[in-house]
Amino acid sequence: MSTDSTRTARDDRAVRRGHPTATPSAAVEVLGLCKAYALHGTLLPVLQDISFQASPGAFVSVVGPSGSGKSTLLGIIAGLEEPDEGTVTVGGGVRRLGTVAYMPQADTLLPWRSALDNAILGMEVRGTPRHEARTRARELFAVAGLSGFEGAYPSTLCGGMRQRVAFLRTVLTGGSVMLLDEPFGALDALTRSAMHEWLLGLWERLSATVVLVTHDIEEALLLSDQVLVLSPRPGRVVLSHEVPLPRPRHRAMTVSEAFVGDKALLLEAIHGGVA
Ligand SMILES: Nc1ncnc2c1ncn2[C@@H]1O[C@H](COP(=O)(O)OP(=O)(O)OP(=O)(O)O)[C@@H](O)[C@H]1O
Ligand SMILES: [Mg+2]
Repeated sequence: MSTDSTRTARDDRAVRRGHPTATPSAAVEVLGLCKAYALHGTLLPVLQDISFQASPGAFVSVVGPSGSGKSTLLGIIAGLEEPDEGTVTVGGGVRRLGTVAYMPQADTLLPWRSALDNAILGMEVRGTPRHEARTRARELFAVAGLSGFEGAYPSTLCGGMRQRVAFLRTVLTGGSVMLLDEPFGALDALTRSAMHEWLLGLWERLSATVVLVTHDIEEALLLSDQVLVLSPRPGRVVLSHEVPLPRPRHRAMTVSEAFVGDKALLLEAIHGGVA
């Protein structure tokens, strides 16, 4: 879904404030971000002093326990919410139409639109003629194992199918930065593995910058250049890990010594081994 207008307003403010440490070359930069929600008259801190940077074309994953603020963080980067403190810049703060494509964690398919017409929503919003948008979407339905379901309504699809339609919509929306909140959480292992390969191929072709939220450490390691581990709420970055595995990556790597070692490191960080 496009969030251009919010993004642009935020970028304007960031530029006006002239944040001294913003890095123009970063595709996504988060600096000193804090966020709290009001709950029963008190403030519930959710994110605390989060900083990280994704250079153009980088694949960054965010893992952490449930409630650590991963979705909140992604929503703030997407421009849906404001941070209480800190700054977020996308594309170095440069105003540009169509920078961000965001896939929220919750299923946001429109029940009155067919799967195909849900998938083209972002393209339509950005002005692509419907016929052209449908043609492009149809090609991807086959890749995502959704052939034959183009005309189906969301209520008749299983959770994994709905998730793939939402994922296609994000991919088709385009944009140099993709923000994906647990895009494969509802998929079985085989479909998930196929989607991983497809996403990696796409990522390389499009040179897009990806920020992916996931519960799945193996998924994070297989896909990413960098993995951020958040602490339990309030989420802080307890580990920022550069993944040393060579590319292209494939499923068989998950049994390699390097992979197993990295996985142990991330698990230790998630369970509080790294302060
Ligand atoms: N709009 C809101 N108002 C009040 N509290 C909120 C709001 N959004 C999130 N929270 C709270 O903030 C905390 C972090 O939520 P968030 O959804 O970001 O976590 P998460 O890491 O994505 O969790 P999960 O892994 O279960 O998806 C939770 O305690 C949640 O209840
Ligand atoms: Mg979440």
